[in-house]
Amino acid sequence: MRVTHSATGAATATARPRRVLLAFVLPFAFAAAPASTQVQGASPLAGDPAAGRETFYDWCAACHYADAGFPSLNAPNLFGVFGRKVGQLSDFAYTEEVLKSGVVWTEAVLDRWIENPVAMIPGTTMTFIGLPNPAERANVIAFLKQNR
Ligand code: HEC
Repeated sequence: MRVTHSATGAATATARPRRVLLAFVLPFAFAAAPASTQVQGASPLAGDPAAGRETFYDWCAACHYADAGFPSLNAPNLFGVFGRKVGQLSDFAYTEEVLKSGVVWTEAVLDRWIENPVAMIPGTTMTFIGLPNPAERANVIAFLKQNR
């Protein structure tokens, strides 16, 4: 950052904190949007299922299968998970915390979950750091939606 002593420099210096504040507030405003649309299950973005499949295999497949008939080993098989209530597979021992949440995997709920599962349901064993990019999340959700 360049320090200037001119009058315009001083104006820039006073304007800067406001811009910094916006840079912090805007992402949170977007992050908060899915929570408020949770009931309707509306998605903030329309995803691309083909791109989402790639992201799924990059990030989620380390723990999850997503093909019909595959077992739930380290994590529940995600084939058909879209639109389902949490914790329905009999071959996986879900945590109490996740079962008690009773969530239904709509677009908006998945969006929050994939962004930060531990923040959404503290105590979950899905210790995944989360996908910070909303477009990537939308793509994965589009893939899961198609994959049933
Ligand atoms: C480190 C391993 C790991 C990674 C990576 C991971 N998950 Fe999970 N996931 C889990 C575990 C374990 C559970 C069960 C959580 C519990 O019972 O608390 C779970 C649960 C879920 C559920 C609920 C399933 C159900 O039957 O209700 C969804 C949906 C889900 N994960 C989606 C994803 C997606 C999408 C990704 C990638 C963006 C992902 N997970 C990445 C381990 C992981």
